[in-house]
Amino acid sequence: MEKIRAAITGIHAWVPEYRLTNLELSKMVDTSDEWIMQRVGIKERRILKGEGLGSSDLGEKAVRGLLEKTNTSPEDVDLLICATITPDMAFPATANIISDKAEIKNAFSFDLGAACSGFLFGLQTAAAYIETGRYRKVILVGVDKMSSITDYTDRTTCPLFGDAAGAVLIEPTTEDMGVMDHILHADGSGRKFLHLKAGGSVKPASHETVDAKEHFIYQEGQSVFKFAVVNMANVAAEIMERNNLKSEDIAWLVPHQANLRIIDATGRRMGLPPEKVMINIENYGNTTAATIPLCLWEYENRLKKGDKIILAAFGGGFTWGAIYLKWAYDPQLPTT
Ligand code: UT7
Repeated sequence: MEKIRAAITGIHAWVPEYRLTNLELSKMVDTSDEWIMQRVGIKERRILKGEGLGSSDLGEKAVRGLLEKTNTSPEDVDLLICATITPDMAFPATANIISDKAEIKNAFSFDLGAACSGFLFGLQTAAAYIETGRYRKVILVGVDKMSSITDYTDRTTCPLFGDAAGAVLIEPTTEDMGVMDHILHADGSGRKFLHLKAGGSVKPASHETVDAKEHFIYQEGQSVFKFAVVNMANVAAEIMERNNLKSEDIAWLVPHQANLRIIDATGRRMGLPPEKVMINIENYGNTTAATIPLCLWEYENRLKKGDKIILAAFGGGFTWGAIYLKWAYDPQLPTT
């Protein structure tokens, strides 16, 4: 029997219109464009404004656009996975809400929480469903409304994050394409450096938790940086070695966009020239589960069938990993 692989066959992303610039941030907290650009590499980030709007609204836009672009009927979708750490609410799953809003009626759906590695964990999960042969159209949407858990009086975290959604369609192929290999890790002992203190079952929301600002991201930046820079670079190098890939074989590294210095270190460890590394952190900041599909979407027209691509991420949990994939389609450039 021919081996069934899971291939990304379409991609779409959506970002809100509002641009929160470094200049505006410098009027809110004691920071500067110079500090943020030097230490992180972000110029601006998109923020979802408006009452009653959440991650599902970002996700719906990305998913609807994906369905339209790939000529996919919502009825044909078998499964929708939503990678997020900023669900609309604790339950039901944001995946269900996105499916409802995008009129996806015949799919089951669930959320997956792996923070900044959410897209990688989701892609491998989707691939495993596809490889069984039972599922033919799986949508993975990485979405986070990070502004909903960001304290805009804390200069150590508020410049870092933004809101976005990116969705991919994943289908079976018998060609030697798609998800080729994965290495995924989780280490819960890292939770002390990066977490949300309240709002869960250990510490439900109360007046005290609100007053103590415990519903916002808590991050010990330097410690997370040390783990991120080592583990993301190591796992990317490991997946190359395991698949006998030399730097010249790789068309693109698609790294999670948390800090330009972490991205540069990963590219250097893999021996890649900067022009093979997808970067858009300057325009969007860290959008958690959305960074990787947002990059792929922006670079889609430069990707060719057969391109060997490494996706790599590190994030809260800790979670980290790398996926080796062969891109499965040529760019559909508009015909003039
Ligand atoms: O995606 C999830 C995983 N997260 C990550 O991968 C993030 C990893 N960590 C990082 O990217 C970096 O640690 C940060 C960008 C969060 C911080 O950069 P850093 O180079 O590690 O800075 P630092 O925390 O060591 O702070 C250096 C100085 C401190 O001042 P003193 O103590 O040296 O006087 C901070 O108070 O910079 C100060 N500082 C700022 N100054 C201006 C911290 N934030 C700011 C700011 N503007 N926004």
